[in-house]
Amino acid sequence: ALALLAPQDLAGRTVVVTAGGTREPLDPVRFLGNRSSGRQGVEIAVEAARRGARVRLIAASVDASARALAAHPAVEVTDVETTAELAAAVDDATADADVLVMAAAVADFRPRTTAERKIKKGEGAPEVLDLVQNPDILATVAARPRDHLVVVGFAAETGDPDEVLELGRAKARRKGADLLAVNAVGKGRGFGDVDNAVTVLGPDGAAVGAAAGTKHDVARGLWDLIVPRLR
Ligand code: CTP
Ligand code: CA
Repeated sequence: ALALLAPQDLAGRTVVVTAGGTREPLDPVRFLGNRSSGRQGVEIAVEAARRGARVRLIAASVDASARALAAHPAVEVTDVETTAELAAAVDDATADADVLVMAAAVADFRPRTTAERKIKKGEGAPEVLDLVQNPDILATVAARPRDHLVVVGFAAETGDPDEVLELGRAKARRKGADLLAVNAVGKGRGFGDVDNAVTVLGPDGAAVGAAAGTKHDVARGLWDLIVPRLR
C-alpha cells in the first residue's frame, strides 16, 4: 500500500540500473576494486520499482546492506564481478529498455593477465602491475544509434565544489549521455550510508537540476529529472 504513495510515472517502463563497483582479478583470491557500496544505485533501482517500473538491477559486488534494500518484487538482480561481465549484462538488459542508469563505479583498468594460481610471495614483489584500459560502457551505449533508450551516467569527482562541477561539465560533453549526475567523492563523502548531493547536467554540460539528501532523496530527485525525458 505504501508503494501507491509514489507517483506511478514509470508504469509500463523497463529500467536498467547498474550499481556497486566492478572488480578485476589479479589471481583467484585478489582483485583491483573500488569503494562503491552500491547503495546509491540500489536506491535508484528500488525507487523506480516503487514508481511502477520493471527493474533490472545489475549488481557489481554490491555490499550486503545495500543488497538487502533491493528486495522488491519488481527488481530482478543480476550479479556481475568484472567490467567485461557488466558490459555484457548491460547489452542484454538494455535491448528492450527505456532507461539505463549507470550508477556503478566501473574499473577503468584491469590487469592484462589474471594468474591462474595464487601469486606467491616467495619470488618477491612484482615490479610492475601491467594494466590495460577497460571499454567505456556508458560512452559506448550513448554513442550507439538509439531512438528510444534514455542514458544516464554518474560522475564521481574529487576536489572543491567548483573543480567538481568543471570536471563534471567536461565529462558530460565527452560522454554523450542524456543526463550526468555529478557528485563529490572522497574520504567520508559519497560512499556507503551517507548523504549525497548531485548536480545533474545535460549533454552540453549545462545544469538541468540538482538533488540532495539521503541516497533515497537523491534517487527520487533523479527520477523526477529523468521521467520528463523519457521517449
Ligand atoms: N563508466 C562506464 N565504463 C567505464 C568507466 C565509467 O560505463 N569503463 C561510467 C560510470 O558508470 C559512470 C560514468 O561512466 O556512469 C562516469 O564514470 P567516471 O569514472 O566518473 O568517469 P570516467 O569516464 O571513467 O573518467 P575518470 O575516471 O577518468 O574521471
Ligand atoms: Ca573512471
